[in-house]
Amino acid sequence: MATDKDHIALMFNDIAPTYDKLNHILSLNVDKSWRRKAVKRLKKSLADVSTPKILDVACGTADSTVQIAKSIEYAEIYGIDISDGMLKIGEEKVAKLGLQNRITFSKSAAENIDYQDNTFDAAFVAFGVRNFSDRKKGLQEIFRVLKPNGTLIILELSEPHNVIVRWFYNLYFKNILPLIGKCVSGNADAYRYLQKTVEKFPMPNEFMPLLTECGYKELKDIALTCGLCRIYQAKKS
Ligand SMILES: C[S@@+](CC[C@H](N)C(=O)[O-])C[C@H]1O[C@@H](n2cnc3c(N)ncnc32)[C@H](O)[C@@H]1O
Repeated sequence: MATDKDHIALMFNDIAPTYDKLNHILSLNVDKSWRRKAVKRLKKSLADVSTPKILDVACGTADSTVQIAKSIEYAEIYGIDISDGMLKIGEEKVAKLGLQNRITFSKSAAENIDYQDNTFDAAFVAFGVRNFSDRKKGLQEIFRVLKPNGTLIILELSEPHNVIVRWFYNLYFKNILPLIGKCVSGNADAYRYLQKTVEKFPMPNEFMPLLTECGYKELKDIALTCGLCRIYQAKKS
C-alpha cells in the first residue's frame, strides 16, 4: 500500500478526472449529506467570528471547499493538497462558480503546512486524514496553524461496529468498490488502496487519544450512517 507522499499524490493525479463522479456513485450520493453535516458543525462553531479564515486540508477537487464557501458567506477559505491533478479540477470548479476571490489553493502537505502559526479560525479535513503519510505530524501541523480556540472538523470513513452492517460493508468495500473503481477510473489499485486505508484507520477509541496527544481539547465523535462515516470535532487548547 502506498504510504509516501509522492506515490499518494501520483495515485490521486491518476484518478482525479473521475474522482467526483466515482465518489457520488460509490457512496450512492450519501457523501453529500455527510459533507453537509460536517460543514453545518463548522459553521456553528464559527458563529461568533465575522470573517473567519478556514483551512481545507487535503481539499482534493474542492467539493467540501465549495460547500464551505456557499454555507459560510463571509469566510476566506484556503485549500491545500499534494496532488496537482486534484487541485487543478478544484480550481476549475471554483472558477466556474465564480468563487475564486474567496478560495485560494496551494500545493502543500498536511505534514508541512505553508502558513504561519495561529492563522486560521478553523480547519476542515474531509476524507483526508487517513491518507496522511504521517498522521500525527499532520494533526500537529494543523494545530500549529489554528488560532487558540480554533476548531478542527474531521470527516472520515470508518468501519461499522454492528456485525451485520460490517458484513455488507466488507462485501461492498472489498469486492464491489474496487471493481466499479476499475471500470470508471481504470485504476483498481487506487480503490483497493481506499479500502485498505479505511481498514487501517484507527477506531475512535484510538483516534481520540491521538488528538489529545496533539494538544486538542473538547473532543466530540459523531457517528453517521451506522458508523460508516464519523465527524470528529475538536478545539485548539
Ligand atoms: C479522498 S481525497 C478527499 C478530497 C476532498 N477532501 C473530498 O472531500 O473529496 C484525499 C485527498 O487527500 C490528498 N492528500 C493525501 N495525502 C495528503 C497529505 N499528506 N497532505 C495533503 N493532502 C493529502 C490527496 O491528494 C487527495 O486529494
